[in-house]
Parts: sequence; structure tokens; C-alpha cells
Amino acid sequence: MRAATATLALILAALAGAASAAEPGLGESVYKRWCVHCHSSGRGNPGTESLRVKYKDSLPAVLLDRTDLSPQAIALFVRQGVLSMPPFRKTEITDAELAALADYMASKYVKP
Ligand code: HEC
Repeated sequence: MRAATATLALILAALAGAASAAEPGLGESVYKRWCVHCHSSGRGNPGTESLRVKYKDSLPAVLLDRTDLSPQAIALFVRQGVLSMPPFRKTEITDAELAALADYMASKYVKP
């Protein structure tokens, strides 16, 4: 029983360590699971269509083509939601996943 508890503690510690060191590809996989079906290119994607109307031609409608979104702005929209975009809970996208997602999306972010 004691050994089992110790083993479990070791496994949990290893998992916690893995989660805090951003896993390569994590941001992209979170994006593909939760965002791409509304924000990819082409017709009929609600996020892309809505952003096309919002910005006319002044900014790209496809989210991944944007270079102006900071990780902070992305995190805010993901947790708050906007129009038909739902807010995402921590049980859906954890804080670590959100950080990796924001880094992935903002990797093309150009600082002013
Ligand atoms: C159900 C469809 C849907 C899903 C899923 C979705 N979005 Fe959205 N998203 C939208 C819509 C609609 C808007 C609003 C655009 C507007 O303001 O006109 C939006 C807006 C945004 C904006 C604001 C952009 C701006 O300049 O106003 C960001 C950032 C964003 N989404 C990121 C994400 C991320 C990251 C995910 C995945 C975690 C995601 N969205 C998932 C539909 C969606």
C-alpha cells in the first residue's frame, strides 16, 4: 500500500513536471482541437466570416494570418468569448494549454 502510494506520487510529480515544461506541438494541437473549425480559411467558418465583416480588409480574416495579436489578447478572448464564440473553461483548455496555444498563435506577432 505504502509503495503504491509512493509510486503514485512519483507518477504525479512526473506528470506535473511534463505539464509545466511546454510540450512541443501542444499549442498547435490545442488550436486544431478547439479553434480551427471556426477560424480556418474558406467560406462558412463563423469566426473567419465574422472577422471579415468586423475588419473589412484592414486585417486578415483568418486568425493564424494575423500578426497583431498578443498572447494576452488571445488568452482574454479565449476565456471571455465574443459574439458566437463561447468562453472556454479551464476544464476544456487548461492554463498551461492556453499559454501554449497563445504562444503558438502569437509566434508571428510583430511587436510595435
Ligand atoms: C464557434 C466558433 C468559434 C470557435 C470554436 C472559436 N472562435 Fe474565436 N471567434 C469566433 C467568432 C464568431 C468571433 C468574433 C468575431 C467578431 O468579433 O466579429 C471570434 C473571435 C476571436 C478572436 C478575436 C479577434 C479579434 O480581432 O476580434 C480571437 C483572438 C479568437 N476568436 C480566438 C479563438 C481561439 C484561440 C479559439 C480556440 C480556443 C477560438 N477562437 C474558437 C468564433 C469561434
